[in-house]
Amino acid sequence: MLNGKRILLIVTGGIAAYKTPELVRQLIKAGATVRCVLTRGGAQFVTPLALASVSGDQVYSDLFSLTDEHEMGHINLSREADVVLVAPATANTLAKMAHGLADNLSTTVLLATDKPVLAVPAMNVRMWEHAATKSNIAMLRARGVTMIGPDEGEMACGEWGEGRMAEPEDIVLALSSFFGSTAPLGGYSAIVTSGPTHEPIDPVRYIANRSSGKQGHAIAQALKELGARVTLISGPVDLPDPQGVKVIHVQSARDMATAVEGALPADIAVCAAAVADWRVDNQAPQKLKKGIDGMPSLSMVENPDILAALSRPGERRPQLVVGFAAETENVLEHARAKLAKKGCDWICANDVSPSTGTFGGDQNTVQLVTRTSVEDWPSQSKFHVAKQLATRIAAHLGAQKFAHKPGEAS
Ligand code: CTP
Repeated sequence: MLNGKRILLIVTGGIAAYKTPELVRQLIKAGATVRCVLTRGGAQFVTPLALASVSGDQVYSDLFSLTDEHEMGHINLSREADVVLVAPATANTLAKMAHGLADNLSTTVLLATDKPVLAVPAMNVRMWEHAATKSNIAMLRARGVTMIGPDEGEMACGEWGEGRMAEPEDIVLALSSFFGSTAPLGGYSAIVTSGPTHEPIDPVRYIANRSSGKQGHAIAQALKELGARVTLISGPVDLPDPQGVKVIHVQSARDMATAVEGALPADIAVCAAAVADWRVDNQAPQKLKKGIDGMPSLSMVENPDILAALSRPGERRPQLVVGFAAETENVLEHARAKLAKKGCDWICANDVSPSTGTFGGDQNTVQLVTRTSVEDWPSQSKFHVAKQLATRIAAHLGAQKFAHKPGEAS
């Protein structure tokens, strides 16, 4: 996947640095050559000897070492690479990168390089969520630095949350998709709908629902990370746009339907949006006034069903159409009925009763209902549900490539 690519790996001082020999091993296995720069902090968690052994090259660590400069000047370190990969990238290194500090070999290389930079953040969840880190990340992204991860999970400090370094295999995958090589969904295009819709009553009031968009956005990101070209059509949400994904922001169900239609053709469609079933038919052109208009009487009319329209047989039907069934009772029964009624291939059924905390929360418990089976997925974060769904889609389309019977999905 990374044949002939030259990677300059900068290992900074996070506990996740202990995983870097395995990362180097997997990068080399994928066909890359790897040269390492190790900071003093990084060397607390992994030895130069370990990195030198797996990379088969000298490890550079000192900006003022005559020997290092003689072997390979610090400017040449990145000149001789195709990309610079910072893994783990600590909050401190990311802050220095954002502000152009160059106080050791790694930050000097990063300031001097004209090569693409990919960073794999790894830190405690509170550091990751700190406004300073958020603003540094946004600054680096705007400057073209690609972020890989972080993952969510248990941290070395015992806390749970976002901030774990992405796994070595995910870093290899992200790099290969960066180089445009054969990621599992490379060459596939996907449409994902996400978030609620707002149905106007008058120019200032609307009808909405409690969807946060977290699940749909995570799915768009996960499909992108497997190499798909993704268009995310999102209702109003309080989330950043996923990186590397084309995002179309909409308000109402009708806007969403038009945007989906405009994004076709696509190979994959995942409808995770909580689309309002009805809109106000007698929308007021001006703000309704209590004193003048009195108690409003809303007349409702049904919205277009985006999932059903996408599932309709025809030339523009995506190869795989996945819907969600948000239910509060008889989840499986309703999901099966929805699969049949809407004509999609799979339904991710989830219980959104208030006691589950699914709507707006971070966890989700999904049953994947296909035309022939029901898979019970574990209760996990929306991030992991998204990863599992994207992997399942990639496996399904991969298998279909070899045994495709039109109109049939497992
Ligand atoms: N959906 C859609 N367009 C609509 C309504 C729903 O695309 N106008 C999609 C959702 O994105 C989801 C699936 O249909 O993938 C099911 O949504 P849900 O709200 O659970 O079901 P409804 O179709 O609204 O049916 P009901 O309200 O009877 O449960």
